[in-house]
Amino acid sequence: MLKKNMETALNEQLNFELYSAYLYFSMAAYFEHMGLPGFSHWMKIQTQEEINHALKFYNFINERGGRVILRQIDTPPSEWKSPLDAFENALRHEQLVTERINRLMDLAMEEKDYATQNFLQWFVDEQVEEEASVGEVVNKLRLIRNERHPLFMLDRELSQRTIAPQQKGGEK
Ligand code: FEO
Repeated sequence: MLKKNMETALNEQLNFELYSAYLYFSMAAYFEHMGLPGFSHWMKIQTQEEINHALKFYNFINERGGRVILRQIDTPPSEWKSPLDAFENALRHEQLVTERINRLMDLAMEEKDYATQNFLQWFVDEQVEEEASVGEVVNKLRLIRNERHPLFMLDRELSQRTIAPQQKGGEK
């Protein structure tokens, strides 16, 4: 059985994962409007991953006898200065998610909640991947410096992204 403070903290993270999905969906729309369908596709895959992260929290809270409470999702930004600005923003966002997962892990350790620690370990590992995959695009965009031809080449590369098997369907 989940303790109340742990249940509240997990519900807050569920909301934040949905905000992450909303943020990346907004970035997908921004790239679509810019005529960069590959970047937009990459962000739509990212959106799906975030929804699956939210689903993992949903499933876990329920399995532990907790109650999922959905709250309002904040409005994400809709404009960025450039593709690089959007991806730098995404990287800062992922770093923030990592901090939040670490704080959740701290709480689970304080509460000696071993099941939640085990559950959160997947997210600790996942955040290494999340920061790396966004950081890789940031590095490429820094090299490109908004030159059109390499930007379109990168757009084509990003259009190949597929959802990772462990991200499908919110499975545990
Ligand atoms: Fe759910 Fe990208 O962190």
